[in-house]
Amino acid sequence: MEKTLSIIKPDGVGRGLIGEVIKRFEENNITIAAMKMIHMTRAQARGFYAVHKERPFFDSLTDFMISGPIVVMMLTGEDVIVRYRKLMGATNFEEAEEGTIRRDFATDIEKNIVHGSDAPETAEFEINYFFNSFEIVR
Ligand code: CMP
Repeated sequence: MEKTLSIIKPDGVGRGLIGEVIKRFEENNITIAAMKMIHMTRAQARGFYAVHKERPFFDSLTDFMISGPIVVMMLTGEDVIVRYRKLMGATNFEEAEEGTIRRDFATDIEKNIVHGSDAPETAEFEINYFFNSFEIVR
């Protein structure tokens, strides 16, 4: 069983897409093991995306991520990292496959509705960033 972190970003929450995203998890046999809605501080957003701190889009990305509430979830399932990334589609929605979350709903490369961990090590860091052990359903 693998685990990953999902975020429904402020554009997804603001546009009323929480249910739509969760429906896709449920239809694809992906289990939600933890979930909460939060509104990050700037420091929290910059800490979460620290790997991108040298990138030109870092300030814009972190401004966007604190522009409204987000829904964070820990997802579990077999090969869930890759399966969830397939459901999301490419970061750039113009390159995402038909029927993916980003292809269906994203409006630009930054406002791309959802985030997902890209590897087991990043999943570990990202899950621990938002959840303590009491918040995770076993
Ligand atoms: P995410 O999967 O959360 O990881 C980093 C985020 O940076 C990405 O989704 C986008 O929201 C944002 N971003 C903005 N511009 C770019 C870019 N040129 N390349 C990659 N990510 C970008």
